[in-house]
Amino acid sequence: MTGRTCIWIVRTAVSKTLFLLTAIFAIEEIEVVRADEPMAVAALNYQQYCALCHGGERQGHVNDHAPSLRSKSLMTSGEREMFKATAYGRFGTPMAGFLDELGGPMNADEIRNLVRWLRSQVEVDSFEFSYDAVAGNIEIGEEVYAQHCASCHGANGEGGTGTALGNQAMLSLTTDKFLRHAIEHGRDGTAMLAFGEILSSEEINGVTAFLRSRASGWAIEKPVFRVPPTAGDYVINPDSLAAEFELTDGLYVSSAQLLKALEEKRRVILLDTRALSRWQLMHIEGSVPVPYYNQEVETLAKDLPNDGTMIVTYCECPRAAAESMNKKIRELGFSNTAVLWEGVGGWVSLGYPVSRGETTRIDVKNIQ
Ligand code: HEC
Ligand code: HEC
Repeated sequence: MTGRTCIWIVRTAVSKTLFLLTAIFAIEEIEVVRADEPMAVAALNYQQYCALCHGGERQGHVNDHAPSLRSKSLMTSGEREMFKATAYGRFGTPMAGFLDELGGPMNADEIRNLVRWLRSQVEVDSFEFSYDAVAGNIEIGEEVYAQHCASCHGANGEGGTGTALGNQAMLSLTTDKFLRHAIEHGRDGTAMLAFGEILSSEEINGVTAFLRSRASGWAIEKPVFRVPPTAGDYVINPDSLAAEFELTDGLYVSSAQLLKALEEKRRVILLDTRALSRWQLMHIEGSVPVPYYNQEVETLAKDLPNDGTMIVTYCECPRAAAESMNKKIRELGFSNTAVLWEGVGGWVSLGYPVSRGETTRIDVKNIQ
């Protein structure tokens, strides 16, 4: 090899490497720009849709006592609950549902990005709360509520300076742990104090359990204990005519149609395909918890009448789990089946009724 050839090879190698490096940096740059783009859109969406009430700086309480969207306490509460509040709103309060399926201006991804953007504005580590119930003494909780909370949140949880704690949509779409976190740590920068410094742990658990006990309505004096229906009770209104729906794409039933059928006392089966803990938190009255991960669908099918009774599956996702269960059931020969289009989150946001499950004593043998 001559000296020249050698130099040529080295030169080519160097220029190729340089070219490659430039290309890699260019790609990375493009990716950075792309990754930033949804956040830039989210920031604009915030100003367009949320600033009116929550404030240009996310400080809250600009209109309608909308909460702060920058308190560390809320931002450490995870993105799930914030997503639900934004997507489905709080029926009965000025907080609307912003999900396109409910007539809102954003799709689920845009809402997810907006929530992510909100979180990125505050430096905190976030975690997601488990769905486990907080056990507490409801009577103690009721006293604590009257003494320490009613002045801001209303004697019947209707809200005032503070949010509407008796709101069924709020209670249905948040976990006990989320409520407890807000009570213990307060919401920094707002009137909501950190009650961890004022009340005992027992009192905080009590008031959390008290709020949960109001999830089906403030008037209920005692929690309603429920066990899931057993095989013989799967059918709602067994002696009446089967519900008939006009299904979109041969699969989807709207919440409005389902509510009408239930009000008209039509014969129907509702399968709640979420994890059992969510059924416990809230569900459509009469539904049977059949989690999507249930491996024994064939055994379950033996308990379902194949006589034209409409079988509706629903979840909160809003449809993925319900669709997978629907598919399994159709494969087993049930043809009169449907998936609830808006999911149970959408159902709640329309102000339709839900019940809560029994949170402590439960026999899960039959359903898992
Ligand atoms: C018309 C006023 C209004 C607008 C506009 C509005 N909100 Fe709200 N928002 C409220 C009110 C009022 C509440 C409290 C409702 C209650 O009492 O539970 C609330 C509650 C919330 C919560 C729950 C916070 C918590 O402390 O649990 C979130 C999250 C939220 N809003 C996000 C948004 C986002 C994101 C937007 C824009 C897409 C938005 N809101 C637009 C009024 C509004
Ligand atoms: C001085 C008024 C005041 C008192 C007293 C008060 N709160 Fe609040 N609370 C608020 C305000 C204001 C907010 C909304 C904070 C924000 O902007 O994020 C709030 C938020 C909350 C939230 C979060 C709700 C949500 O939608 O995310 C919970 C739960 C709560 N309060 C429970 C309680 C309980 C339980 C008590 C009594 C032990 C209590 N609060 C006493 C003013 C008050």
